[in-house]
Parts: sequence; structure tokens; C-alpha cells
Amino acid sequence: MGKREGFASSFGVLVAMAGSAVGLGNLWRFPYLVGTNGGAAFIIIYLACVLVLALPILYSEFIIGRRSQSNVFGAYKKLAPDSKWCNVGFIYVLCSITIISFYSVVGGWTIDYFVKAATFQFSSASADQLSGMFANTVTSTASPLVYMLVFLGITALIVLAGVKNGIEKYSKIMMPLLFILVIVIAIRSVTLENSYAGIEFLFKPDFSKITAQTFLDALGQAFFSLSVGSGSILTYASYVSRKENIVKLSAQTAISDTMFAIVAGVAIMPAVFAFGISPSEGPGLVFVTLPYIFNQLPFGSFLAVLFFFALFIAAITSSISMLEVIVAYLDEEFKLKRRTSIVLSLILIATLGVFCSLSQGIMSDVKILGNSIFDLFDKSSANIMLPLGGLIAVIFVGWRMKKAEYADEITSGGLVKFSKTTVGIFYFFIKYIAPVVIATIVIRSLF
Ligand code: PFF
Repeated sequence: MGKREGFASSFGVLVAMAGSAVGLGNLWRFPYLVGTNGGAAFIIIYLACVLVLALPILYSEFIIGRRSQSNVFGAYKKLAPDSKWCNVGFIYVLCSITIISFYSVVGGWTIDYFVKAATFQFSSASADQLSGMFANTVTSTASPLVYMLVFLGITALIVLAGVKNGIEKYSKIMMPLLFILVIVIAIRSVTLENSYAGIEFLFKPDFSKITAQTFLDALGQAFFSLSVGSGSILTYASYVSRKENIVKLSAQTAISDTMFAIVAGVAIMPAVFAFGISPSEGPGLVFVTLPYIFNQLPFGSFLAVLFFFALFIAAITSSISMLEVIVAYLDEEFKLKRRTSIVLSLILIATLGVFCSLSQGIMSDVKILGNSIFDLFDKSSANIMLPLGGLIAVIFVGWRMKKAEYADEITSGGLVKFSKTTVGIFYFFIKYIAPVVIATIVIRSLF
């Protein structure tokens, strides 16, 4: 078993947490879900889900992780000894495996697009040509697999180097750069001719478009985007020192993640409308629109290279947090060497990833419950496993832990001062609101 690492500083924790949260979920998944779910009304429900549901889970995972200083399985074993609670750890491990399997396929696309940008392959391409290029990219057999393996390999190398020396270091540079780039693109996007329809789509809600599915998609996206319910936050929190203010860190993580999502929406939707692309284009949205915007910008080719590199980094900082869940579990529960845990995890993830990737092309006829393998992994993790993992965390903190233990963690053992009312309000959300609402949404939309 490897020696337990810890984060070096508060900023390091924030960068790692925000690195996990900000990723393809914000820049790739959020815009296309907004597009397919009718725009502003979806965003409003999404924001409500972040505030009322995802945030209490974020606190709960922080509490469980930091208090136990252990992996997803060991955490419940430590905090609820002599009970069956530890078995819930499997759900987190399963969820992380499922997400990283399709996530690394998309991560591979980002590398592919980085290479395309660096070799000027989008220059002067029309919207139709760019749509065709994306379709070609993802339906090919060999190249997406190669890129996926490269993506997984890099993820593994950083996890092997350790969170502090790998991810913390790179995130500090790349996250701010990514943010600046997305803002530049957003400004260009809103100043395009005919961009207004996109702004309206983003900010003028049409509530007639809302269905039970909208709620489930918004909930799943809120959890996916904040990385809650999969044990990533729990695992990272287990490396956080006793003196950190976890309420502040959770809020900062949620705010940076939400800002990224909204700015990504503003970067993409106006351009979608200005160029006459359909907002419900689906997973290709960001890969088609952004190259098109870059074609309209001075130094566009250079920005395209930077953007796809930054997108790749955003994806890597998230995939690492998923791999860490699995590796910490194998490492600590089976006393394996970190290297062995990583190799075993990679074999499993890469095998599943192959099916996810091929399901975009030669295996697209294979449908499970009406979905391609890729969509099945995506939807089942975001809409079922993450809510389930989140539900477990809030129920554990609200109903199994003692309120005094909860208060002790929230206040970092008395170091951080909160009024009794504030502590009580958080508790009320964790104990009653989050579990009831999550269970209602998931059960209603499933049946
Ligand atoms: N939050 C990441 C994103 O928005 O891309 C995805 C993610 C990371 C989901 C880690 C789940 C997770 F455990």
C-alpha cells in the first residue's frame, strides 16, 4: 500500500477539486444538453439542482472523506464499523469505472482535435464540413482507440506521480488559462452577427419544454459536473487536512464549476445560432461549433490549438479524480502497490472504453435498452449511479453519523466559526431536502 499523500495547500485542494469538477461536463456535455433540452428552462432547473441537491452532497462527501481519511470503501468501514455500510463503496467504484470508460473516449477526441488544430485541418472549413469531420472522427475504428489509450496513459502517469506533484502543479497553470480562453471565445461568440437568438435561447426560458426527463437530465448533469456521487470528492477530501474550511472549499468548487458551465454556454450557443447549426446536434456540438468560431477569429488557428489543449487538460484533471477513486480503493483495501492498482484499473477501463468507442461506429447497431453502449454508460452513470451515490452520502451523514460529528467536521473541529443556525440549515438540507428530492426525481423519471 502506498503512503497516503496529502494536498500541499488550501489552493492546492481548491485547484484539485475544481480540476475534478471542471471538465468535459462543462464544456462538452452541458452545452449539448442545454441544446437538446430547450435552453434556458433547463439551465434554471440545473442551477436549482446544483444549489439544493449537489451542494449538500458535496458537503457530505467532504465530511465522510476528510473525517475517515480513507478510500470509498474504507471510509464507510471506519465511520460505521460493524455494519454493512462499507458495501456502498462498490457503487462508487462501479460508477467511476463506468464514467471514466466513456469519458476517456471523449478525452481521446480532444487529443485528436488538438492534433487537427495544430495541423490547420479546420482552416476555412464550412459548418457542414466540420460536422462531417466530427462524424468521421468518432465513427472511425482505429484512431479513436489509439487516442483513447493515449488519454488513459497520460491519466495513469499523473496518478502514478501522485496528486500533488502531477495534477496540482499542472492545474494551477491550466485552469486559469482555460477560463481566459473560454471568456475570449464567449466574447467573440456574442459579438457575431445574428448571435442574439443564441442568447435568447440561453436566458429566456420556455417552460413548456419541461418534462420529467428534463429534471432527470438536469439533476444528472449537476452531479456529473460537480463530480458528486461517484466518490471522487470523497476520495480527494480524504487527502485534505483537518484545518481546511470544507464549507468554503465546497462553495468555491461549486461556484467555479457553475461559472465555467455558463460561460461555456455563452461561448457556444450564440455561435450555434449565428452559423445556423442545430442546437440539438448532440455530442458533436462543441467539436463542430468551436472550430467554426476559430475560423472567424484573428489568430484563430493558434487559439484553436490552445483551446483543445486546455480542453484536454480540463478532461485530464477530471479523469485523474475518477482513476484515483479506483486506485485508492485497490491500493488500501487489497494492499496492492499503487502501480499494480493502476495497471489493473487500466486494463478494465480500456476494455470497456473500446466498446464505448466502437459503439459510435462499427458497433452502432448494438443497442442495450434502446441505447448505444456509449449512451448507456453516459446515461446510466449520470442519471442513476451518481444520484444513487449522492443519496447514499447524504443519508449517511444525515441519518447514520451523529449530528455532533457532522458539526465537528463542518467547523473543522471548532477552527471555523459558524452560527448554530447556519450549521442547522446545512444539516436540514442534507438530512431531509436532498434525499427526498433526489429520490423523488429519480423514481418518478424511471417509472
Ligand atoms: N466533473 C467532471 C466534468 O464535468 O467533466 C466529470 C466527472 C469527474 C464526473 C469526476 C464524475 C467524477 F467522479
